[in-house]
Amino acid sequence: MDVIGSMLYEGKAKKIFTAARPDQVVHYFKDDATAFNAEKRGTIVDKGVVNNKVSERMFTLIEENRIPTHFLKRLSDREMLTKKVAIVPVEVVVRNLVAGSLAKRLGLRVGDAIEPAIVEFYYKNDALGDPLVNDDHLRLMNVATPGVLRELRELAHKVNAVLKPFFAERKMQLVDFKLEFGLFHNKLILADEISPDTCRLWDMETGESMDKDRFRKDMGKIEEAYQEVLKRVCG
Ligand code: TMP
Ligand code: ASP
Repeated sequence: MDVIGSMLYEGKAKKIFTAARPDQVVHYFKDDATAFNAEKRGTIVDKGVVNNKVSERMFTLIEENRIPTHFLKRLSDREMLTKKVAIVPVEVVVRNLVAGSLAKRLGLRVGDAIEPAIVEFYYKNDALGDPLVNDDHLRLMNVATPGVLRELRELAHKVNAVLKPFFAERKMQLVDFKLEFGLFHNKLILADEISPDTCRLWDMETGESMDKDRFRKDMGKIEEAYQEVLKRVCG
């Protein structure tokens, strides 16, 4: 199926189009890859297809566990129909192992377990480079009330409790991941995507990265890693 609506928004990895119903949108998953607030740009061949299909599986699994999401239907290789939400401008990061910016910021050892998992909030704002913020900052900026922040944290932990064992069964360690939420009829639901772009996944046997870190750090075999994740998740 081809996109028929008009484009509402173009992001770094997706385009959003109108759908037949005004309360729904179509996401088109691109192969464009960016890192470091888009200072680094490139293409990961067929990333859009992988991220669409992996996200479909993740959202289906999460819905089966009674956590509401924006997902309605995958329309084609690169298109997904979802509810149209008002995105809450907070990136919610869940961490099970030390990696990435956490290791760098606090000088912690990469790979050390974090138990119980921690949740971090980043203010979603490209001009500011998505800064790490706390509850007080978000309340100060009128981005979210304490009640909404409590709910975001709870939902993030619930999603982690579903995804961590799912990936472990497929011999992948869910190191960390980023979630976005949106409001739909005044209710918080999970939105955006869940894919190797937004998760760190380490092969349990070899410890190798199977996610966007391969692009961020020029590690090579990027397409191969994305295809392997697709195979283990959907195959
Ligand atoms: P970080 O260690 O760089 O803060 O990343 C934490 C997690 O969030 C990691 O799984 C990658 C994901 N992430 C995004 O999805 N988008 C982003 O812009 C960044 C910086 C991280
Ligand atoms: N997607 C983010 C960007 O381009 C960064 C990342 O995922 O590392 O800015």
